[in-house]
Amino acid sequence: MKTRRNFLKTASLVGSGAIVDCALPAWSSGQLNRAGAAPNIAGKDGMMVRSVRFLDLEMPPEFAGAWLTPVEHFFVRNHMFEPARGNRSEWKLTIQGEVRKPLTLTLRDLVELEQHSVTNTLECAGNGRAFHSPKVPGIQWQRGGVGNARFTGPRLARLLERAGLKPTGRHVMFRGLDEVPGNVPPFIRSIPVEKASDPDTLIALKMNGARLSAHHGFPARALVPGWIGAASCKWLTEIKVLDQEFEGNFMKPGYRYPNQPVSPGAAVNPDDTHPMTALTVKSMIAGPADGETIRARGPVRIHGAAWAGEADIVKVEVSTDDGGSWNSAELGKEHAHYAWRLWSYSWKPAGRAECVILSRATDSQGRVQPAISPWNPGGYLYNAVDRIKVHVEA
Ligand code: MTE
Repeated sequence: MKTRRNFLKTASLVGSGAIVDCALPAWSSGQLNRAGAAPNIAGKDGMMVRSVRFLDLEMPPEFAGAWLTPVEHFFVRNHMFEPARGNRSEWKLTIQGEVRKPLTLTLRDLVELEQHSVTNTLECAGNGRAFHSPKVPGIQWQRGGVGNARFTGPRLARLLERAGLKPTGRHVMFRGLDEVPGNVPPFIRSIPVEKASDPDTLIALKMNGARLSAHHGFPARALVPGWIGAASCKWLTEIKVLDQEFEGNFMKPGYRYPNQPVSPGAAVNPDDTHPMTALTVKSMIAGPADGETIRARGPVRIHGAAWAGEADIVKVEVSTDDGGSWNSAELGKEHAHYAWRLWSYSWKPAGRAECVILSRATDSQGRVQPAISPWNPGGYLYNAVDRIKVHVEA
């Protein structure tokens, strides 16, 4: 059994001698940057620490300038303690419930199946929560609760086929090996059988070509491409086919979106909400950095990434005058169905000024990033046009 002390040891926090169970230091709730106040976490250099009790690390925006996010800079979202590093030869994945032949698989069994790769933008549904007004409780993610990686592993559909899905099977439930503290409900969620049977839904064993790291779900995680990150259960140990959607904290009231638009700050009846599935359309500016002073005399490269869940990005526009006028950005050559698309725009500043730069994406479903993202009590799916300020010293 892993204790909290062991967890902190595993996370290799440097300079964290003052941590005690109840009195968490101020930085445990976030707001820190790379200026030196935050602890270093082994293998995760330079991340913004949003929480250490349960590890939540945000990617600095500049890393949205790369097609594949290095694992070192990939955000981490944990609802509870990471499992102790077990013996991987003892790890098992069970598949049961509405199936004819329940299965118990070892890591070797999964490795021996045909492997498939999907490049996918994983985004936490709460990414951007900090920008909602009025404020909502929860991890105050800003722009970096997102990353793009190539995930590899057997297709979930192949396993369900082997187990013999019964016609009564409607939803597929995932349970991870997280260590559940006290009376916190376990992280269990389900997805509809149609999405589970999609050839791109994986039991991922690798991320960017290397075996999954401990923070990202070693030895196996679900990869539900295009959907909110919460769908992709880490440290997977149990798959259960159900005749109805799983009922539990992380399906209801957690991770639900109001059926109707909500006035900012208003309460919403949980019965008038639905579980979130696919991500919405969104872009972010990787460079220049917010608040940067630009001294260049020549053109300035404004660039970043845009993604749209199960849809494709068709256009990204950039404004350098706070929305007064818009210019088309050039889309990057690399693209894959569920992956973000890099974009760039060459800007010639007119002279010394304070400029507000915006980016706005449009997707193949005709969705356009709004000027103001709809408010909701969970602070989910924030997708307003991205916005930075720069100071030009021409
Ligand atoms: N799986 C388990 N078992 N426990 C968790 O806390 N967090 C989920 C999901 N899978 C979580 C989980 C959430 S909310 C997100 S956004 C993604 O994992 C984040 O994946 P990452 O930490 O690999 O970036």
